[in-house]
Amino acid sequence: MWKGRFTQQTADLVQRYGESISYDWRLYPHDIAGSIAHARAQQKAGLLSAEEFTQIEEGLREVEQEIERGEFDFSIELEDIHMNIEAALTSKIGPVGAKLHTARSRNDQVATDTRLFCRASIDNVFALAAGLQNALLVQAGKHAATIVPGYTHLQRGQPVTIGHHLLAYVEMLERDKLRLRDCRRRLNICPLGSGALAGSTINLDRHAIAHELGFDGVSTNSMDAIADRDYIAELLFNLALLGAHLSRLSEDLILWCTNEFGFSTLSDAHTTGSSLMPQKKNPDVCEITRGKTGRLIGNLVALLTALKGLPLTYNRDLQEDKEPLFDSIETITLALEVNTEMITAMQVNESACRQAASDPLLLATDLADYLVRRGVAFRDAHELVGRAVAASEASGTPLDQMDLTTVSPEFAGDASGVFNVESALHARTNPGSPSVENVQREVERWQAHLQ
Ligand code: ARG
Repeated sequence: MWKGRFTQQTADLVQRYGESISYDWRLYPHDIAGSIAHARAQQKAGLLSAEEFTQIEEGLREVEQEIERGEFDFSIELEDIHMNIEAALTSKIGPVGAKLHTARSRNDQVATDTRLFCRASIDNVFALAAGLQNALLVQAGKHAATIVPGYTHLQRGQPVTIGHHLLAYVEMLERDKLRLRDCRRRLNICPLGSGALAGSTINLDRHAIAHELGFDGVSTNSMDAIADRDYIAELLFNLALLGAHLSRLSEDLILWCTNEFGFSTLSDAHTTGSSLMPQKKNPDVCEITRGKTGRLIGNLVALLTALKGLPLTYNRDLQEDKEPLFDSIETITLALEVNTEMITAMQVNESACRQAASDPLLLATDLADYLVRRGVAFRDAHELVGRAVAASEASGTPLDQMDLTTVSPEFAGDASGVFNVESALHARTNPGSPSVENVQREVERWQAHLQ
């Protein structure tokens, strides 16, 4: 592609070192769409005849089908997807193919292709995240009234429900989706026409090209358009955070599936056994998700590191944007798919939940609230209940079976009603709190929202 200036062939090692075709082949549908839009603009500008344009368009469609059918012979001598496609086109249709690259550089071409790739990927990840929300929602609806301890510091805190707990993840995924949508809106501008870095003396209709490719507008600074990879960094951050959310969900499920918790059971189809210990049923999917989140975070860091020292505009370092991007998209796609299936098939063990929720200590705060309602200042109430808890621990008598007036006369009256976990939950009616009615209302709100 640059034989004019060179007298030596590119060294073999350099070809192997610098090629990107082994991974950027994934850009082919976008590269071809971009080339067709570019050729159409060339025709409008009188640089191609109608017949030449048709030859280019049909040639590119043929190349596309060959790639789809797995019949295309990718060559590392041609470095990347852009040159592989252009060379194949020219060998199909002859000299007309050599006109396609007029007023274009691989620099604005690759920027266009990756924007289109990111846009399509975002739409897919968005839909998959909504699918996982739906799966969580179904379980949340079933278990709006399944009471379990809620934890802080992984110590039992106060009563919540499985439904409320799972809806927390629906909230996280919603923010992930909004971030993806926001990123999509910002990236959807067309860099084509920026050329290598300074536009071109041949003016094609950039707006028409952008319109054909579904972009909302054209970039407004050719140097920025060539050098900018913010949209990939943003997307990698969004995917890393989405991964962090899936990883936290995984950790909750790993705990829930232990004998010690026992709140839920994953299906045989989504767990694995041990080659040695016959009794084992391991939550590998959760562990893999937790493990893969490290890659999602690493991919973001790799890109930011590649970007941070680059002078404007294009530098070959930028080629390092693609493997992290492709890896993160592939990782998150599979993670969302498998987690959706796994959550759908998960069983909640209501008796284990009930057992754990019957711990009277979960209602220690409610006992303090009881004193507050009787006029005791909260700090004092906190201390009195703390003493009651210490006395319960020392005597081995559960808190709900103690004569609390031996701790303080402030407990006089009927505090026993406090120790009903159902009514304790029922009392938590403020918006955002886990009363069964609230959780059911939230499930309905999410159902309507997701439709
Ligand atoms: N494969 C290259 C990349 O991914 C395409 C752009 C090449 N541009 C260049 N000036 N060498 O970045």
